[in-house]
Amino acid sequence: MAKDKTLFTCNACGATSPRWLGKCPGCGAWNSLVETVAESASPSKNRLATAPQGYAGLANAQPVTPLAAIEAQDVARTPSGLTELDRVLGGGVVEGGVVLIGGDPGIGKSTLLLQAMDALQRSGLPTLYVTGEESGAQVALRSRRLGIEGSQVNLLAEIQLEKILATIDAVQPAVVVIDSIQTMYSDQLSSAPGSVAQVRECAAHLTRMAKSTGITVILVGHVTKEGALAGPRVLEHMVDTVLYFEGDTHSPHRLIRAIKNRFGAVNEIGVFAMTEKGLKGVSNPSAIFLSQHSEPVPGSCVLVTLEGTRPLLVEIQALVDGGSPAPRRLSVGLERDRLAMLLAVLSRHAGVACADQDVFVNAVGGVRISEPAADLAVMLAITSSLRGKALPRGFIAFGEVGLAGEIRPAPRGQERLKEAAKLGFTTAIVPKANAPKKPIPGLTIHAVERVDEAMHTLRALE
Ligand code: TYD
Ligand code: MG
Repeated sequence: MAKDKTLFTCNACGATSPRWLGKCPGCGAWNSLVETVAESASPSKNRLATAPQGYAGLANAQPVTPLAAIEAQDVARTPSGLTELDRVLGGGVVEGGVVLIGGDPGIGKSTLLLQAMDALQRSGLPTLYVTGEESGAQVALRSRRLGIEGSQVNLLAEIQLEKILATIDAVQPAVVVIDSIQTMYSDQLSSAPGSVAQVRECAAHLTRMAKSTGITVILVGHVTKEGALAGPRVLEHMVDTVLYFEGDTHSPHRLIRAIKNRFGAVNEIGVFAMTEKGLKGVSNPSAIFLSQHSEPVPGSCVLVTLEGTRPLLVEIQALVDGGSPAPRRLSVGLERDRLAMLLAVLSRHAGVACADQDVFVNAVGGVRISEPAADLAVMLAITSSLRGKALPRGFIAFGEVGLAGEIRPAPRGQERLKEAAKLGFTTAIVPKANAPKKPIPGLTIHAVERVDEAMHTLRALE
């Protein structure tokens, strides 16, 4: 077979060029051409392209099957032995499944995977850990720290894709970790490791290998400064499962979230604590994102959020500070556009104006909150900071806020309230539709329908 040649393909329109061009000849986009491998056309493809009868000769090549005639098969899973990781994976690693684990450098990806590989190896699955970032000695040092220095996990320090594929073929592991996909390169392409073209090409090869052999592949991906898995999210659609590491590297807690899972529920989270001896699962995480103030402070409101199947209590902090000519709106762990919307709703529907103030909001502990049920807690934290008055002791809130000033219910409100009561919270402002029919012992619940009503209730509580 002739050697595959390289081509440059436009990311936007798919046009190709034999050499790199700054501007796409097809759609005119700038900097959109990336290097790709063009497989040399086989004789049969040529015949198809030039045959006068078009595709007619191939009509019977692939028989079709009615869906009803295909037997659904449960996927074969093996638990990794780390309960919190299995929870986000949907029960364990899947045969032939490809998982992408993304996160900031230093957050604990290599640590977690070494622990998981060791557990899988112990349970009898042959594993291969390919390290492109660290030497074998460095990984051995980590294993000593984790107390698994006697581990039988097979290690390969290599960055060239073709050699890795050959090793996989020879060793026949059941699970392969590629740490990280950005360090790998294929000699089919001339661009540097870490470039979009290389990352895409290597991931595509490994995915095909996983599907054809039934080997589970776990890819580690670093997150770029913009927060996307490099390259421009190209890997996310290729793989079966995308897991994201969250958390503040300065605090011990780490969260793993499934943002895509063909074999399980999304938005499930796994919670870990980084200890001296690696990552340990936290089975009851609801209270870990609360900063323990001895006295209530202005600008702080506890939110009960629901991540996957578990309620989590997260402290939302706001700081409203005044008088700048170009006020800033900054948020950490919450969406900035949502913050701008909430400030507009506060001003229009509750007469709380922050137009000339800097507004900062933060979700404590590096957790990212994307559910709209956080709105009410964010609003109350902002109001509390603006007025310099702390919310009552033992206070929680949740609820989505609409543009018309209405407060909409959050899913599974009862569970959220029960968890708050269990942790000793005593007062809540929640959407009317979330008010429980039976009282919850120890918790006084104020149900509201509108933003101004929530503000009145708050004043009455002060
Ligand atoms: P690492 O797994 O190397 O991160 P990543 O692969 O995501 O870049 O984790 C690195 C951090 O974890 C490092 O700062 C040291 C810390 N750590 C511990 O606190 N305890 C441990 O047992 C280990 C192995 C690492
Ligand atoms: Mg690493």
